[in-house]
Amino acid sequence: MSNKSPFSRFLLTLLAIAGVGLLLYKNGERWLRAILLYLSGAAWARQLVSDLPIAQQVAGRFVAGQTAVEAMQTARELNDAGLLVTLDYLGESVTDAAMAATARDEILHLLDKIAANNVNANVSLKLSQLGLNIDKNLAADNLRQILERARQHENRVRIDMEDSPLVDVTLALYRRMRDKEGFSNVGVVIQSYLYRSDEDIRQLVAEGAWVRLCKGAYAEPPEVAYPQKTDTDASFVRLTQQLLSGEARENGVYAGIATHDERMIQATIDYAHANDIAPEEFEFQMLHGIRRELQEDLRANGYRVRVYVAYGQAWYPFFMRRLAERPANLWFFISNFIRQ
Ligand code: FDA
Repeated sequence: MSNKSPFSRFLLTLLAIAGVGLLLYKNGERWLRAILLYLSGAAWARQLVSDLPIAQQVAGRFVAGQTAVEAMQTARELNDAGLLVTLDYLGESVTDAAMAATARDEILHLLDKIAANNVNANVSLKLSQLGLNIDKNLAADNLRQILERARQHENRVRIDMEDSPLVDVTLALYRRMRDKEGFSNVGVVIQSYLYRSDEDIRQLVAEGAWVRLCKGAYAEPPEVAYPQKTDTDASFVRLTQQLLSGEARENGVYAGIATHDERMIQATIDYAHANDIAPEEFEFQMLHGIRRELQEDLRANGYRVRVYVAYGQAWYPFFMRRLAERPANLWFFISNFIRQ
């Protein structure tokens, strides 16, 4: 108990009681998810949780370490198991240009390390990590340098998708780099919970884009996103089929189907079988530390699987989104905290 302040002990015990209560209550899981997503963006909560050794320990299940050297080691082990990798230097919503430059330099260094170590990995990043919330052109300048370095190493960079106010500007910057500045090594992400995604995918299919499809990890209002999981899932299946359609493949689309949901994965496999789509024409993607057996099963059945490996010190918001996705993870965290 020595490493817990009375305040953090009090607050986390309260959270534990509220969490259990909510899980037992009708619709409680939805509330719990909303609370965790709110906490993922709250500076006071970040301070409180980040200092807890047990939080660092539990976050270690999803985060490959604090340094590029540790991330490289994880990537190599995954490669040895036949899995592809995307590496993510954690960070988002930076508020000054120096922090954005630090993130850019770390990602440049990461690209050099991937090449030097001959690891089969590309890179994922967030535009708010490169200064998007400060100035769009600052983020563009940082992104350009990263894409240039990736091109020198014949590697690719995927822009993660953040919360809905950033979708338009993210797609605009993606297209500026790809179409106006000629970087063919940049890709983007679409979230199936957004109503707008049908239209976004339609355009990206026409453009022959390199797209990751996921369900979406942020707290979004019903004005922009499906409130019901069943609708998000139906949208995921529909969008997957658009990304794997004959038109999409003819245009050069290469889809990353990012989910741990076995029903989504089975629907993808069924569609691929029914339409003679070979396993190497798309890939599944999952997060490091989640459903490892499923990753290996898919690999053993001839599918390409890419694992998203996050590393760095700014693990708090990433970790909280993982808790929100599966409240059982929260229970694991809290029970360890109480036992400690
Ligand atoms: P769903 O949440 O329905 O979960 C299905 C099953 O998977 C669960 O029942 C559980 O068994 C398992 N599972 C899911 N999440 C788990 C967790 N955290 N811990 C343990 N088990 C879990 N989002 C975003 O908004 N922008 C982005 O750029 C990305 N990028 C991205 C890349 C990759 C490679 C992945 C896999 C995911 C993302 N995401 C993302 C996150 C994504 O939007 C979504 O929040 C999570 O993938 C969870 O949704 P599922 O599709 O797994 O389904």
